[in-house]
Amino acid sequence: MALSLDSDEDDVPPLPRQLTTELSKSGLDEAKKMQESFMLSQSGTFKVDDFKINKTGLVPDSERERPQSTAGSAFGLLDVSKFDELETLAELGSGASGTVYKARHKPSGTIVAVKQVTILEKAKRDQVVAELRIMRKHLSPWLVALYNAFYEEAKVYTVLEFMSAGSLADLGAKHKGGLRDERELARIALQLLNGLNVLHKVHHQVHRDLKPANVLMNGDGVVKISDFGISSQLDNTAGLCSTFVGTTCYMAPERLNGLAYSYSSDIWSLGLILLELATGKYPYADADSYFKLLSQMSDQPAPAVPEGDFSDAFAEFIGFCLEKEPNRRPASRELLKHPWLRQMDDSSLSGMFGAVSIS
Ligand SMILES: Nc1ncnc2c1ncn2[C@@H]1O[C@H](COP(=O)(O)OP(=O)(O)O)[C@@H](O)[C@H]1O
Ligand SMILES: [Mg+2]
Repeated sequence: MALSLDSDEDDVPPLPRQLTTELSKSGLDEAKKMQESFMLSQSGTFKVDDFKINKTGLVPDSERERPQSTAGSAFGLLDVSKFDELETLAELGSGASGTVYKARHKPSGTIVAVKQVTILEKAKRDQVVAELRIMRKHLSPWLVALYNAFYEEAKVYTVLEFMSAGSLADLGAKHKGGLRDERELARIALQLLNGLNVLHKVHHQVHRDLKPANVLMNGDGVVKISDFGISSQLDNTAGLCSTFVGTTCYMAPERLNGLAYSYSSDIWSLGLILLELATGKYPYADADSYFKLLSQMSDQPAPAVPEGDFSDAFAEFIGFCLEKEPNRRPASRELLKHPWLRQMDDSSLSGMFGAVSIS
């Protein structure tokens, strides 16, 4: 598999000049301020970039002690030390790799999600559990927390933060004609980009399987990325859409072509996810096989926002994500400066993280 993790995101070109100059100095400052306040938790001490929460293990005690709650888990700290601390409650869904259950962590009363994947080879199982345990350090409000991983018999169990409002796939199913509200789209995009930014810049990790079903929401409207890092192993997608049969595929053209890929491949996936959510239509809907998809991606111009239905800013944002040439796609940090995201204002941010006050 061709994977170039070496290429640093900083090599990615910034947004084109006409766009950044349009953004006035004060506009940039404003966007930056908004971004910072957006990342501030209720306690006012939690920031994504310097990972204070990671270093101090800070979690509001009141939230941690709340019974039957998922609130404490919002900060990614729940000590599930033994598999038998969990009580299965219901099935939440299943994907290519296994089944996800809703469960209760008995010592704390916290509701969690448990993903069960069958892996027959012991060596692979050991490796997967070891890697999952390393990923427990990936604490961020934009990433679904991974509390622990265990195995019993031939099954690997991943204990995850429970996301009560389902995935973007569920949201898309509710808006079959497309989600036309750009403020809502921008609210999702901003959080997704923050998640990608943490994955790319802090953990130096490419997601590899960013798709609507791996973008989950909780009851506070917080959007988080799940199944990052080792999803290629768990989901067996290493065969470059080998499982692609009448389904949708969010892989960037360079990945489908078996070429080297890096962080920018996740940016393509982000663009495709947002475009599908906005229009209610998967952009390559008539490509019903891997080879058709491959040829459509190569021969046709990249999918774009339909004219007239959406703002120019949104069309431009999607255009940047869906650059067929990976080196021309802006990095997450650059895209975070895009004016389209600035329609987010205080009223659309309140409600995030519960009673957060954004000053
Ligand atoms: N942490 C979670 N909280 C709530 N529901 C989840 C969580 N993780 C997964 N799910 C649900 O379980 C389904 C199956 O997940 P998964 O096995 O990762 O497959 P896929 O991502 O391909 O759908 C998801 O589509 C989602 O609806
Ligand atoms: Mg998933």
